[in-house]
Amino acid sequence: MSSLLSQLSPSITNLIRLDHTHVLTAFHQYEIGSSPRLKKGLTDNVCLAIEIHAQLEEEIFYPAMRTVADNEVLRKSTPEHDEMRGLIARLRNMPVGDPAFDDTFFELMRHVMHHVADEETMLLPAAERLIPDQLCDLGAQMNKRRLELVGPRAPELASSMARSLSTGTLVGIGSAMLAGAYLLTRHRYGDRLAAARNRFARAI
Ligand SMILES: [Fe+2]
Ligand SMILES: [Fe+2]
Repeated sequence: MSSLLSQLSPSITNLIRLDHTHVLTAFHQYEIGSSPRLKKGLTDNVCLAIEIHAQLEEEIFYPAMRTVADNEVLRKSTPEHDEMRGLIARLRNMPVGDPAFDDTFFELMRHVMHHVADEETMLLPAAERLIPDQLCDLGAQMNKRRLELVGPRAPELASSMARSLSTGTLVGIGSAMLAGAYLLTRHRYGDRLAAARNRFARAI
């Protein structure tokens, strides 16, 4: 990673905190009485944001931490991501009107909140103590990889963004983090995005 890019990048620990904040904000927009359309948009957004965030941590952050630390929180991080992936798969295969949909969504929320608390109170401070000189370079790697991961899923993101935002709720998408990457990849995936938007507009 070029040193200039690394110097300009936010630290990976602050990028992770930002991702967490955006996902938790989206969780807090979900209410039992929300319309099925909004629930579905929020759920799709949250699930996509979690999947990409988890992959970024597994590819970039956790390996860097494993070179300097070995503890319970680090060891259980990837298995906890896998539990979230299982809940995400269940939500994706369930109609939003299913009586179990709300409970499954809130179960995912519980898992994420617990996991985020461990990361923010133990892993991130440990990274800032143990590898302070690597944090901006790792942040640059994370941003670069995020663009690669979000790009192919931009149509999916555009569709869920539209559903989340169309009610006038200031949800932000399960993540502005994804929205930022979305904007940066619009040119590359412009045609597919336009097609997805048109399909969505015809469907409503
Ligand atoms: Fe994590
Ligand atoms: Fe995380």
